[in-house]
Amino acid sequence: MPAKKIPHVLRAQDFDRRRIDDLFDSANMLEQKGSDCAKGKTLVFYACQPSTRTRLSFCIGWERLGGTAHAVSSSDSSQEKGETIEDTVLSLAKIGADVIVLRHPDEDAIFRVALLSPVPIINGGSGKEQHPTQALLDVYTIHRAHKDIDDLSIALVGDLKFGRTTNSLAYLLTKYRGVKLYLVSPEHLRIKGDLLHYLHESGVQVEETADLDRIIGQVDVVYQTRAQKEYTTDPNAHAGLAPYVIDRRVAERMKKGAIILHPLPRNQELSREIDALPQQKYLDQMYYGRLIRMALLQEILR
Ligand code: NCD
Repeated sequence: MPAKKIPHVLRAQDFDRRRIDDLFDSANMLEQKGSDCAKGKTLVFYACQPSTRTRLSFCIGWERLGGTAHAVSSSDSSQEKGETIEDTVLSLAKIGADVIVLRHPDEDAIFRVALLSPVPIINGGSGKEQHPTQALLDVYTIHRAHKDIDDLSIALVGDLKFGRTTNSLAYLLTKYRGVKLYLVSPEHLRIKGDLLHYLHESGVQVEETADLDRIIGQVDVVYQTRAQKEYTTDPNAHAGLAPYVIDRRVAERMKKGAIILHPLPRNQELSREIDALPQQKYLDQMYYGRLIRMALLQEILR
């Protein structure tokens, strides 16, 4: 008999539409009824980069499912003594982790540990490359606001070169029909070529532009992001982002019913003056994030 496949969650493009829709249904159900499917089981969130929302939504989500959760950061683990991430993950599984969520600055680490881990590994952010569970919560938030994601116009705005959230979201949006994607950034911060190619091959209508003002009135969703300064030492790498600020003036030019998302944390690109506007969905995103991660964890436990 072939060995049982371990349900790792590594990349956004590995989800198909059916599975995403099932997760939405489970998240809706969990919101109503809850579940104790993680009772007696342990989740470890292991962070080699800072994390507030992802860490706590996994840990609190797991605890709401009846399990026990632990968050460890590399700065107070044996990585400081030179331990490899492979050894760390093997150790966590031996000690009793039933699921491990890993956030790591190195894009490859998640794949290396998935090869040897005896328990499911969830990508909680892998360098500049991917953040698949963020993308799930992004599409779930869009679904809760607009119901149907097919045929929506969506703008991804800001640092598309170093941003992993926009990568994963773009991959996930290929699973929908008729989505029009505006990629809004200065020329030197455009999305990577292989992803652009993937979008074209998947039949997504894509327009790259530097002009947020021109398209702001045409989109159903604006997905704003911050400059990912931690990935570069070049002080000019993020020059040109200053005009991409979403404030009240910009929000008021949006279509009726259009929404504003942001993975957070924010810097100056998202003005606090829009927090109370109906377009604001970036605070709700954190609530939906816990629900959809609970749905994903429940799926993995099955
Ligand atoms: C994002 C991340 O870590 O990639 N944050 C998050 O998980 N909500 C976005 C960011 O840090 O800008």
